[in-house]
Order: sequence, then C-alpha cells, then structure tokens
Amino acid sequence: MGTLVVYASKHGTSKLYAEHFAKKGGLEVIDYKQLKKHVEDYDSLVFFGGVYFNKATGVKELLKVPKETAITFVSVGISGYDDISLKRSLKSQLNGYFPNIQFYHLRGMVDKKQLTSIERLIVHLVARSKSKDPNDPAHTDFEKIFHNETVDLRDMGKLDFVQSLQ
Ligand SMILES: Cc1cc2nc3c(=O)[nH]c(=O)nc-3n(C[C@H](O)[C@H](O)[C@H](O)COP(=O)(O)O)c2cc1C
Repeated sequence: MGTLVVYASKHGTSKLYAEHFAKKGGLEVIDYKQLKKHVEDYDSLVFFGGVYFNKATGVKELLKVPKETAITFVSVGISGYDDISLKRSLKSQLNGYFPNIQFYHLRGMVDKKQLTSIERLIVHLVARSKSKDPNDPAHTDFEKIFHNETVDLRDMGKLDFVQSLQ
C-alpha cells in the first residue's frame, strides 16, 4: 500500500508535472491507461489530468478504481486557479464517487505547433469567448492564444504548493 502517481496527458504537460512530482517524492508514476493493472497495490493516488473543454482527460478510467482510494486530483489547464466553471465541472464528475478526494489545479501550456488544425481552430474559438471577460485573471493568456501566440504557464515550483481549486 502507498501512493501511486498517474497522468492522463494529450500533449505532455500533465505527464511532465506527474514525473517531477513522482521524482521528488520517490513515487511510482504511470500513464492512466495502466491504472487497472496497478491500482490494487495502492490506497492513494495523485492524478494529473489535462483539461479539454472543462473536462479532465482520464476521468473514465479513474472512476474504475475502488471508491475508498484517497484521491488527490490535479487538473492541468490554461484556466486560472479560480475558474468556477472548471471547478464545478470537475466536482460534478468526481465528487459523488470518491468520498476522499481533494482538488488542485496547475497551469499548462498551449503550443500552437503541437496542435492539429482542428484543435487549433477549437482553441481559438474557446480563447475568443474566454478572452471577452476582462475580469478573468486568465484574460491576457486567453487573448494571447486568440492571437495565435504560444502560451506556456507551466511552473514546476507550484508542485511544492499545489494551488487549491477549493
Ligand atoms: C482543444 C483544446 C481545448 C482546451 N480546453 C481547455 C479548457 O476548457 N480549460 C483549460 O483550462 N484549458 C484548456 N485547454 C488547454 C490544455 O488544458 C493545456 O494545453 C494543458 O497543458 C493540456 O495538458 P496535457 O498536455 O497534459 O494534455 C485546451 C487545449 C486544447 C488544445
């Protein structure tokens, strides 16, 4: 029994955070697709999931682990730490299932070179709608994405004090 670090990452940011976190704590780290094989050996998971359309990658697999598992859930996205719609969406996906879950958030990156043309279009549209709110702390970041700039908000220093979404 112990803690397993898991990542569900499409473009590598959640993987990078998970690997740093695991290395610092001397913990095992796996891709979420391996979760079923390993989960019986652990009573707590630290899960890093990339956010797409307010939903975290890998949640379907995560919901297959025993309910009693203690979950530290770290969303990784462009949104700021106080994105209420993201908070609500993640909690509605997970809160009812795991009685022992804590939510945290880390900021990710959007690298235009990594995206498919469809992703580029979608991210552009999302950024356009999100950049309209000047009071959103992530306003400038969304504006940059809207104007086709790469935005890199990754910060390994935040792993020491994972920013709470609660
Ligand atoms: C198509 C698309 C949709 C996205 N939607 C969101 C979103 O709803 N909220 C958010 O915070 N970030 C969003 N992002 C940004 C990603 O969460 C960010 O790039 C993150 O670093 C991805 O993590 P990964 O590389 O581990 O998959 C989106 C990115 C793409 C390409």
